[in-house]
Amino acid sequence: MVDSQVLPTSIIEMVYSARRQVLLILACVAWIEFAIHFSPQIEKFAHDTLAYRSGVSEDIVPVTYGPEDEHSRLLQTLERSNGKWDSSHPRHRLLTALYGFTKYKDGSQSDINRWKDLYKKVPKRQKLLLESAVDYPRKLESISRLLDVNVELASSIADYGLRFYNISQIELDEFIKEAEAQGKRIDKTSVTQGMKHFVRDWAEDGHEERLKTFQCILNSLEQEVRTIDAPLRVLLPGAGLGRLAHEIANLGGFKVTMNEWSAYMNLAYRFLASRPEQNSVSFHPYTDWWSHHATTADLKRSVTFPDQVADASSVVHVEGDFTTVFSGSTGQYDIIVTLFFIDTARNLVSYIENIHRLLRPGGRWINLGPLMYGTGPFVQLSLDEIVALSTRVGFKFRETNADFGEVTVPGLEVRGSEIAYGRNPRGLNKNAFQAQYWEAVKL
Ligand SMILES: C[S@@+](CC[C@H](N)C(=O)[O-])C[C@H]1O[C@@H](n2cnc3c(N)ncnc32)[C@H](O)[C@@H]1O
Repeated sequence: MVDSQVLPTSIIEMVYSARRQVLLILACVAWIEFAIHFSPQIEKFAHDTLAYRSGVSEDIVPVTYGPEDEHSRLLQTLERSNGKWDSSHPRHRLLTALYGFTKYKDGSQSDINRWKDLYKKVPKRQKLLLESAVDYPRKLESISRLLDVNVELASSIADYGLRFYNISQIELDEFIKEAEAQGKRIDKTSVTQGMKHFVRDWAEDGHEERLKTFQCILNSLEQEVRTIDAPLRVLLPGAGLGRLAHEIANLGGFKVTMNEWSAYMNLAYRFLASRPEQNSVSFHPYTDWWSHHATTADLKRSVTFPDQVADASSVVHVEGDFTTVFSGSTGQYDIIVTLFFIDTARNLVSYIENIHRLLRPGGRWINLGPLMYGTGPFVQLSLDEIVALSTRVGFKFRETNADFGEVTVPGLEVRGSEIAYGRNPRGLNKNAFQAQYWEAVKL
């Protein structure tokens, strides 16, 4: 123990200052870990910072090619020799996500153990009451078994991913061993979110949400003059699990490219797009969150997907960061659709400039989504500021019909409507966004 009485003041100050700095660093690390865990935007922020350092080259996407060519390009991008090997390398990010899906059992098991431990805190008399009234221990056991079904799904996603991305089990096992030796844990939230998007995009439970969300976009695109021989080129950045991209492709006369940065989403999409049969997979998406359920049967219910088979050959899926992966595609798209995407930007100005650059003159930007900024964006603009900035960049907002909703700000060609995102249709909570819809033409 240091006796502060006998030390000169400057040494005491140095000790206290060093201690303050260590505490500050520990606090920052804890905050960043928390934020990365709970916010995709922050995960992106961390990714951007790391990507800047590693200098991995994402080969530029040619425009007139199909899913097969994109698969070859992707495998090249994933080569270890492509750029510096660190946590922002595409293969490293993919292996990290594969680790998450492979070891999902650890995460879900720790949840159930925690709930069991918490139940132990209930006094004995109340336990007897709970057991006779609702058989709470049985609920814990049965949900533990249902979580195993989700674990199996996660493991199938990883297995398919290994084949799709041509990665050996040995390589993944070694990666996991090394990660665990360094004390790393899986990102359970990202795995859960990836799988929950099966409900939003590809299950009957998401039908109503999709109907309300997609309809105005599909109606607008349907009116475009186009032919099968000369299809219009549509790009959807931040496409998640791609249902809207596939719906647009189903309209006919559109050559659709979807893009997604998250390796978790990409693994889930690749698995989904490989399912040859309708409603052939089931899982229990609501078992990890016990709030807002009217009945325990609702909480436990299974959801099947895909409600429609996704034709993987009808959409080109380009993995990677939207702001860099299309650097060679200036003026190549007729339409860009951003769905619940623009507020994921670390730099919103870059997103808007990139959308403008990728469109041909006269091309159209269709946006639908909220303005829910993450924790680390460079700028956070209100709707009126986004319109002013986009106009300055070179867009003209055009009139849209009132089907979507009322004009949000008088004088601005933007409409708002209450739209849910990932809502449990039988849940007791009704969280929704006042999502904003606009169409803007590149001048
Ligand atoms: C809120 S989600 C919306 C997903 C989908 N559009 C939907 O409506 O279900 C935003 C998506 O954008 C992706 N994303 C974020 N930054 C990105 C970037 N720079 N390039 C490509 N995708 C990105 C995220 O991984 C996430 O899947």
